[in-house]
Amino acid sequence: MQFTAKVTDISKQRTACAIIAVDNKNRFTDSGSTLDKANGGSLAKLLKRGDLGSAAGSTLLVPAVEGSAERILLVRTSKAPISTAEFRKLASASANAVKSQKDATSYLTEVAVKDVDVAWQGQQLALAAGLAGYKFTRCLSDAKPYPLAKFAVHAPDKKQLKAIQQGVEFGGGQASGSNIARELGNLPGNICTPSYLASEAKALAKKHAKLTTTVLDNKKMESLGMGAFMSVAKGSDEPAAMIAMNYKGGKAGQKPIVLVGKGITFDTGGISLKPGAMMDEMKFDMCGAASVFGVMNALVEMNAPVNVVGVVAAAENMPSGRASKPGDIVTSMSGKTIEILNTDAEGRLVLCDALTWAGKFKPSVVIDVATLTGACVIALGNHATGLYANQDKLAEELIAAGETTGDRAWRMPLWDEYQPMLNSNFADMQNIGGREAGSVTAACFLARFAEDYNWAHLDIAGSAWKSGAAKGATGRPVPLLLQYILNKKQTTV
Ligand code: BES
Ligand code: MN
Ligand code: ZN
Repeated sequence: MQFTAKVTDISKQRTACAIIAVDNKNRFTDSGSTLDKANGGSLAKLLKRGDLGSAAGSTLLVPAVEGSAERILLVRTSKAPISTAEFRKLASASANAVKSQKDATSYLTEVAVKDVDVAWQGQQLALAAGLAGYKFTRCLSDAKPYPLAKFAVHAPDKKQLKAIQQGVEFGGGQASGSNIARELGNLPGNICTPSYLASEAKALAKKHAKLTTTVLDNKKMESLGMGAFMSVAKGSDEPAAMIAMNYKGGKAGQKPIVLVGKGITFDTGGISLKPGAMMDEMKFDMCGAASVFGVMNALVEMNAPVNVVGVVAAAENMPSGRASKPGDIVTSMSGKTIEILNTDAEGRLVLCDALTWAGKFKPSVVIDVATLTGACVIALGNHATGLYANQDKLAEELIAAGETTGDRAWRMPLWDEYQPMLNSNFADMQNIGGREAGSVTAACFLARFAEDYNWAHLDIAGSAWKSGAAKGATGRPVPLLLQYILNKKQTTV
């Protein structure tokens, strides 16, 4: 999708659809009033008839006979200034209502919003439009993507144009990164294998001079002593891959942010086999890895002046004659030994070696992203990502980034008191902590491998995909991560 910001005159701006706001008293913003006058007051008449719902976010698409806009989308708002949450609602409701148009111009920047600037409004509008325009069509015999190809955001005046433009470009980048993550997440396990992810990473390096890709194969991982990772990989006929995408857009010598993604391309549970119902959704168990791909793609696309390494731990968790069994003890790359009491707690096994390996990039921070625990879904549902961190500042920055972009995370405890739940009679630790606090004990397990650097863990088990009629990957937490990286860039440059 192409995103632009421009100062437009609504009576002259050619567009398939102009998006204008109407408040709770049927009042337009400036451009809406101009358009209504140009149409002989017909919009105001229409509103009097009550066709536009009264709830904020209600929309009504009307064909326009006169003027430069072929259609007009009326969007209901409450009394201005409105909240950021309401603006997000308007952004996504209007984006969904125009995705069947070939282009659209949004005048919602004229709506006053509490506590934010116009750049933020531009960013939210572009992000919502980009997300609404995505559809998974790759496996359909008759692919019909949404027509929306161009999205323009109106700048109320020249002075605000640059800020809105920056916001729109960034929001567009967040959407495109999210959509890359969604596409990878939605791909089935028979297409999106660890080797497939490795080839995607190599293809990205071919396209961009500032990014290099390294892929470790099973033999190499074995020789590096990645016994925890290999204990998961060995049950599958699909070769596993440990991938690093190293993007150097920042100053030479500036320590990189390292992102680590869980890339279980299918999680059957292994010998501790999962029940059959909804098992198909375990193709989404690589959504952490997918979000790392989304971020790396967006960074190169935006030519971001930052150093970021994206690490992906890719494997398939299968039951077989070669699979790990409950009670097996393995040695991780760190030297720590692990008793595998449940082969379905495989995410932490692949991640612990990835976290040890991540240390070699001399990171400023390491952030892992993983669909790690069903317990996190029970704790937080679909709205918040579970956030754990061994440094308060990092936790606060990630929470703030999530708030800004509407891709929110909620901090969970990593207290020492939880650690004994991982004690084993036979090894340095066991890979499960029991029924209680399942998301916390999984994070506590990872923390043992992230002691040497500032580290955060994002449990996206609830936020990475939707079930039911809207089944599909969400692309989260790509917006949060890109926002965090952008905020960092602004404070360090
Ligand atoms: N990939 C799952 C976590 C998951 C489950 C995410 C359901 C989203 C929805 C993970 O590998 C897993 O199976 N975790 C187990 C851990 C348990 C055995 C300690 C779980 O959450 O049940
Ligand atoms: Mn599992
Ligand atoms: Zn899993």
